[in-house]
Amino acid sequence: MTKLRIRTYPDPVLAQKAEPVGEITPEIAQLIKDMLQTMYESDGVGLAAPQVGRSLRLITLDETGPKERLRPVVVLNPVLSDCTGAKESEESCLSLPTFNCIVKRAECVTVRGMDEQGQDIEIKAEGLLAVILQHEIDHLEGKTLVNHASRLKRTMYDTKVKKWLKN
Ligand code: NI
Repeated sequence: MTKLRIRTYPDPVLAQKAEPVGEITPEIAQLIKDMLQTMYESDGVGLAAPQVGRSLRLITLDETGPKERLRPVVVLNPVLSDCTGAKESEESCLSLPTFNCIVKRAECVTVRGMDEQGQDIEIKAEGLLAVILQHEIDHLEGKTLVNHASRLKRTMYDTKVKKWLKN
């Protein structure tokens, strides 16, 4: 397994709408393993393929986090449905160093897609798991937390990122 390089804002791949995954080729199987490894080693609870430079509809997550690593979940071509309730929580993203913001999301969601064996799966989630799923599926639409932030907060982050890029 390889730890992949995480793309950070404003890398254009993060703003692209990702393409569906067809069959699970050996290359896709390897990408899944590498993404899980990358997610855990980066202390993340979720990762979307565009974050490692692959514009594909593929996400990995584990709500138990890098310390526990108890529930790795892989979803290919995830589709969100049955969103109910609303809840605000503070989120951060591996692609947005130092950035965090409060995001209002559905409290309960259902996600359907395919697992790493190509089997149809359905996940009914609430709490942290529901937040992670919605956050990662946003990435597949080319959306990140900056799209949820106020204009002022985004402008301030843009200024910060421009400074980093100069140095
Ligand atoms: Ni993210």
